[in-house]
Amino acid sequence: MPDDPIALFADECEQRIASYAGSSLARSAAQFLTASTIPKYSYNFSWLGRPIIQYPQDMVAMQEIIWQVRPDLIIETGIAHGGSLILSASMLALLDYTDSAQAGKVLEPKASQRRVLGVDIDIRAHNRTAIEAHPLAHKIIMLQGSSAAPEITAQVHQIAKGSKKVLVFLDSNHTHAHVLAELEAYAPLTSIGSYCVVFDTVIEDLPGDMFPDRPWGKGNNPKTAVREYLKTHPEFAIDKSIANKLLITVAPDGYLKRVR
Ligand SMILES: C[S@@+](CC[C@H](N)C(=O)[O-])C[C@H]1O[C@@H](n2cnc3c(N)ncnc32)[C@H](O)[C@@H]1O
Repeated sequence: MPDDPIALFADECEQRIASYAGSSLARSAAQFLTASTIPKYSYNFSWLGRPIIQYPQDMVAMQEIIWQVRPDLIIETGIAHGGSLILSASMLALLDYTDSAQAGKVLEPKASQRRVLGVDIDIRAHNRTAIEAHPLAHKIIMLQGSSAAPEITAQVHQIAKGSKKVLVFLDSNHTHAHVLAELEAYAPLTSIGSYCVVFDTVIEDLPGDMFPDRPWGKGNNPKTAVREYLKTHPEFAIDKSIANKLLITVAPDGYLKRVR
């Protein structure tokens, strides 16, 4: 309906975002991303008290996706200080709250089945203690081990059994081989209409000498893994609309939507 103000606003948004392609704004955003990587800009933030290693733009995209998908399970690889786990847990708690509000009664928070499941090869004792002491800890399950290890992937699949809507965030070891192994293991758990988000695909777009002390770099990173995975997995499509509006994101071509 042309006069519907909500549709008009959405239309305006879409046109504005389309106009950014090749613009000086898009170039400035790319420059900012490059310039902010070495100074560790993404390490400056926290979510409900826990440090989170993300750009604010990607945090907003995570919020939008969780609200849209309404998952009952979020699988995350890469816990670090726990900030992204707490972000997911807080959004799941809000979904519980809005379910309660719609039902017109208070649902016992701990009765909700919504959970975030985090995997990390090394959950430092001080991080584990702080995450377990957080008021949202009841929504969090943590597994320690490599996210590509068969005993871990088997546990994740076991926990995911019975979940109706699953969302996946991959943010651990950023080598091609590891991310490809994670995609093979966890992307199939993504529900239709939900996302498997692969973080740090931006490594492919950054100067090649930026990570001399890391096993990943140009040609060996999450974006190269996504490209290889998508060759044989037409059930996923890159949702370009997300990176197109964020402009500043560590996950260009990493927002994978399960379309069938
Ligand atoms: C970038 S940090 C995760 C940041 C976190 N998602 C956040 O947003 O705050 C990467 C984490 O991946 C973990 N990691 C590295 N190799 C891994 C592996 N093979 N399996 C699982 N986790 C791994 C590291 O221990 C580190 O805590």
